[in-house]
Amino acid sequence: MREIRNDLYLRTLRGEKVERTPIWVMRQAGRYLPEYRETRKQAGDFLTLCKTPELACKVTMQPIDRFGLDAAILFSDILTIPDAMGLELVLEEGVGPVFNKPIRTISDIDNIHIPNMETDLSYVTSAIKVIREELNDRVPLIGFTGSPWTLASYMVEGSGSKEFRRIKGLMFEDPNSMHRLLQIVTDSVVDYLRAQVAAGAQSLMVFDTWGGMLSTDNYQRFSLEYMHQIVSSLKSDPVTQDVPVVLFTKGGGQWLEMMVETKCDGLGLDWTVDMAAAKARVGDKVVLQGNMDPVIMNTGEQQVMSGATQVLEAYGHHAPEDRGHIFNLGHGIQPFAKPENMTALVNTVKSHSTNYHC
Ligand code: CP3
Repeated sequence: MREIRNDLYLRTLRGEKVERTPIWVMRQAGRYLPEYRETRKQAGDFLTLCKTPELACKVTMQPIDRFGLDAAILFSDILTIPDAMGLELVLEEGVGPVFNKPIRTISDIDNIHIPNMETDLSYVTSAIKVIREELNDRVPLIGFTGSPWTLASYMVEGSGSKEFRRIKGLMFEDPNSMHRLLQIVTDSVVDYLRAQVAAGAQSLMVFDTWGGMLSTDNYQRFSLEYMHQIVSSLKSDPVTQDVPVVLFTKGGGQWLEMMVETKCDGLGLDWTVDMAAAKARVGDKVVLQGNMDPVIMNTGEQQVMSGATQVLEAYGHHAPEDRGHIFNLGHGIQPFAKPENMTALVNTVKSHSTNYHC
């Protein structure tokens, strides 16, 4: 039997009146799911999983099939771009992502390979095509990228970081080179998102995981400026202009008004942001996505139900001037999360949120 088409997520992003709050979860496909761990084992390693469209499709579908979420997100990673630039990504067990050839000198910036979307990253567009076919319009597909600042952070640090000594060192000591690197990354990100949309991505999200490490002034110059360019390029290109764009700066709660200036369609909020206050500040201009503390997903069903209810209550009633709310966690779901808590979360949001839409 053909399933009913669910476009609640896209209608919410277009600012249309909807009957309930849509829900999807950052990192919804991942290690907390036994079926993911099984497919990953079959693939051998994480990058093979990303680079094999049939397997990427399989893990993209797993949380959709199991929980009935309202959007699918392409199974991939933000670090595909630096990998395609020649930095050689490896995912080390217990360490996280590491580049064999990080950016360490100015000439490394000059020698960056500009990725060709049709050759270097065709595994991503192929995966999108396979997933759209498999989804058959059940729910929309979200494509994504890392922000230029976040990608550059990994490229220069060579791995995850707590203090960002190298990237901030470059920013303070040689801002021109920093800007040159960010511009190279931004141009590839725009190409990449365009290729994702041409292949079938129906909405886009920019993950600025490390923008919150910056001072307000440097956030504007080194992160927001490039996200602004991305949104402007997408909105002026006939291929991408109608595709909604959501920006998420983790730790960026104090900058929501500035982020809205990019003309993005939605803002992702981490759990430190007061949803009611965010709605009062920018809720008439953008859709707000978020923002339950992901650690609640590692606890019990009661905590999940009460956490979800609190977020829905904080957004409150959907008045005509409100752009809308998409339920999500405030950051990715963790490997320690209990799968049965996702069931409780989805059921709570689906049933309880109707109270706020009339
Ligand atoms: O959301 C989804 O389900 C789609 C897939 C997705 C992954 N990574 C899969 C993944 C998305 C959207 C990302 C984005 C991503 N990747 C971000 C931005 C979002 C955020 O979390 O702030 C960042 C910073 C990365 C970089 C990255 N990739 C890290 C730090 C890690 C290791 C952390 C960890 O959980 O081990 C990865 C690997 C990664 N990306 C995994 C998954 C499912 C774990 C891989 C595995 O061990 O199987």
